[in-house]
Amino acid sequence: MRRDCTTVTTLQQKKESGEKITMLTAYDYPTAKLVDKAGVDIVLVGDSLGMVVLGYENTLAVTLEDMIHHSKAVTRATERIMVVTDLPFMAYKIGDINQTVQNAGRIIKESGAMAVKMEGGKEIVEEIRVTINAGIPVMGHLGLTPQSVNRFGGFKVQGREEVAAKKLLEDALALEEAGVFAVVLECIPAELAREITEQLSIPTIGIGAGKDCDGQVLVSQDMLGILSDFTPKFVRKYADLNQQMSVAFRNYKEEVESGSFPNQEESFN
Ligand code: KIV
Repeated sequence: MRRDCTTVTTLQQKKESGEKITMLTAYDYPTAKLVDKAGVDIVLVGDSLGMVVLGYENTLAVTLEDMIHHSKAVTRATERIMVVTDLPFMAYKIGDINQTVQNAGRIIKESGAMAVKMEGGKEIVEEIRVTINAGIPVMGHLGLTPQSVNRFGGFKVQGREEVAAKKLLEDALALEEAGVFAVVLECIPAELAREITEQLSIPTIGIGAGKDCDGQVLVSQDMLGILSDFTPKFVRKYADLNQQMSVAFRNYKEEVESGSFPNQEESFN
């Protein structure tokens, strides 16, 4: 049962009092339970699911069904944290606003998530407005928006040039005006993130955007050190689960093969 849940009001109060907002991703029941118990404000069922759980090269193959399936596991696990789910590639920005609202509505109705996240600036404000009018809170996402990876020509820092920085600030103001309750700023220079944070009255949540955002978000698999292949520069590793899991799996294999597992206490009479 949900109680003392983080809401859009809680987040706005944190912005106003200067208390930092915390957000982590989760895609499954046990991880979501731990993130909730740790007192984190928001759990994001991100479409990073595609890369860190399903093994895709980018987020583009993730479907609405995938997002609903994993969001259900997360909402079943959580009691007080706010659950936000990404609208995946091709579930919006498809020239049919009614379809966007229906897709966002399916996430909320079928999974129990409380809000959706959409990537983009001025070009999606109409979709955002209509979605919010349907009663669905929307979180924005600017900067390195992974669903546009092919347009950006890779996963690159955004907003370094003056024109691009100005556009990002204008996009952030347009999202605020459209009614989003918070904006993720991904991989942009720290100075630009600070300026956007100062100009907006809603919270900014940074990932690779420096320390001056109103909050921070990391992909749990990255901060837990689960994947060994690549760690982005902005990630701090709070654990080395890759190493610990590898040792555990190797030890298990050896002990089964040597006959030392299971022993008598681990067996029924
Ligand atoms: O999909 C995701 O995990 C995200 C975060 C990186 C913000 O969008």
